[in-house]
Amino acid sequence: QVLPRFYHERVVDHYNNPRNVGSFDKNDPTVGTGLVGAPACGDVMKLQIKVDDTSGKIVDACFKTFGCGSAIASSSVATEWVKGKQMEEVLSIKNTEIAKHLSLPPVKLHCSMLAEDAIKAAVHDYKAKYAKLGSAEEEVA
Ligand code: FES
Ligand code: FES
Repeated sequence: QVLPRFYHERVVDHYNNPRNVGSFDKNDPTVGTGLVGAPACGDVMKLQIKVDDTSGKIVDACFKTFGCGSAIASSSVATEWVKGKQMEEVLSIKNTEIAKHLSLPPVKLHCSMLAEDAIKAAVHDYKAKYAKLGSAEEEVA
């Protein structure tokens, strides 16, 4: 049917009541920071993870997004999904899963892509820092 496309209630929920908004100290060695932008619209997303060094588990996550409602909702979902998971595990989170969860329309797919990219960037940042500390044989992706 040609009904107007309204945002799914989950988008509205995550937009009105975003989870885990905030910042960690990016110089903290247990923190990985992913900062990504969408060239098309200029929106910017920062997603950070806090990692337990011994287990590689993400114990906390937060975000700050300067962008549209779908980007804010996507980053909010992303922080919920990465918490309590292994770093390797979250690398396989796909923007399409986030988009599906939020029922984003096709024109809003790139907003969820920001979240996927930000997760990956945060993990890579953490690994790069960790490697620099010389503590382990982790490969820097
Ligand atoms: Fe929040 Fe699913 S509605 S992560
Ligand atoms: Fe660009 Fe949503 S419109 S991130």
